[in-house]
Amino acid sequence: MESVKLVELLLTAEIYNRFEELTEDDIPKELRKAFYGKNGLTRPLVVKYDTAKKVVKDVDSALKNLPFVDYNAITRQIKLTSFELAVKWFAQRALDRIERNPILAYYYQNYDSLNVSYERAKKMNAPKCSDKEWLMCVLAELEKNKETSEMLSLVRVYSPEDIRVDFSDIALTDDQIEEIRKIEIALEEREFLREIGLTDVGKLLFIGPPGTGKTTTARALSRKLGLPLVEVKLSMITSQYLGETSKNIEKVFELAKILSPCILFIDEFDYVAKTRTSDEHAAVKRAVNTLLKSIDEINLVEDGVILIAATNHPSLLDPAVWRRFDKVIEFPEPSESLRRRILEIILAKVPGSYDIDEIVKITEGFTGAELRLVVREAVLKALLEERKEITQNDLKSAVEEVKSRLKLRETY
Ligand SMILES: Nc1ncnc2c1ncn2[C@@H]1O[C@H](COP(=O)(O)OP(=O)(O)OP(=O)(O)O)[C@@H](O)[C@H]1O
Ligand SMILES: [Mg+2]
Repeated sequence: MESVKLVELLLTAEIYNRFEELTEDDIPKELRKAFYGKNGLTRPLVVKYDTAKKVVKDVDSALKNLPFVDYNAITRQIKLTSFELAVKWFAQRALDRIERNPILAYYYQNYDSLNVSYERAKKMNAPKCSDKEWLMCVLAELEKNKETSEMLSLVRVYSPEDIRVDFSDIALTDDQIEEIRKIEIALEEREFLREIGLTDVGKLLFIGPPGTGKTTTARALSRKLGLPLVEVKLSMITSQYLGETSKNIEKVFELAKILSPCILFIDEFDYVAKTRTSDEHAAVKRAVNTLLKSIDEINLVEDGVILIAATNHPSLLDPAVWRRFDKVIEFPEPSESLRRRILEIILAKVPGSYDIDEIVKITEGFTGAELRLVVREAVLKALLEERKEITQNDLKSAVEEVKSRLKLRETY
């Protein structure tokens, strides 16, 4: 097994170096990670002892077993002494790996009668934009330049590998699931959509009260699609000098294009609308128009950017803004059945004996965030009494506590 892994690494490097048409996206994700250096991935790929160590547990014994592999202790480089022998050796032992490795599939698809396909392997392999190392290299490069480092100060950028939340942690309605699936397919079929001229896809508006899962869904989408997430709150890029606001908006969209393919998530999207109704002087209008224009000039098919905007106050958005999104996805106050699913998710790992149905009944009007609060309170209360298992009473009194907290908010 260790020998197979080492030969795969060496063959992948060798074939990648031989064929210019192969790209970094073709290198299998787990092998790609072994090759990242300070300047990202560089051609030609060189397999050093330390490179191999990242993929193969016992490099030394693998080296001993392979007659067509040479290790130079001075340069610490590992090389194939006979490419042909390695090719043959590997084909006899690891067809399944060839099927999943686009670089190998590219080479082997014309080899003997192996039934492997480059296209198929490519579909299974995550492109480099999903690698944390890749994003770090790109960001480090942008930091060096004054203009682009200013752009970075306006946003938060996450690698999909850093995102903890998964779609299995969120209770979504069927509508929401369907719309998310459509985006996924649009991303896969970008080429086709471009060919038929359907470029206006991939702009979503999430609307709904606080704590209903908008931000969480955007993050889970980044993880699912393996795309970096660029997060920005509109209130944070609004400057008292309105000329600056327009420039900031432009910079954020420009940055999203530089980091593409990626998801651009604009939170507090109503912030613009608010300024628009309050004070209609020319500079405010200019900022709003910049935003509208920026939205017009970006799309998934041509720029590889999925735009998601989120707001708690959809009524503040004017028709010009609405029109620019191809889909509005509602995050409503959860219904009874949604509350049940949310509680099932949150309580999945919480020990104790309780009746979810009763809690569902007494939490009408609670959002996902508030249900999370209930469970946290119940667990902390139990821990305070030196119990690791929660009871129905813990949950019920936590519900009461959250309810009075909500009332408190209403009175101020
Ligand atoms: N449908 C849901 N399923 C599971 N958890 C949920 C759901 N809705 C909300 N939550 C939980 O509530 C918390 C807050 O959610 P989130 O931050 O995504 O809300 P939001 O809609 O972005 O709110 P805001 O409008 O205030 O930004 C998260 O911890 C999330 O896990
Ligand atoms: Mg949010």
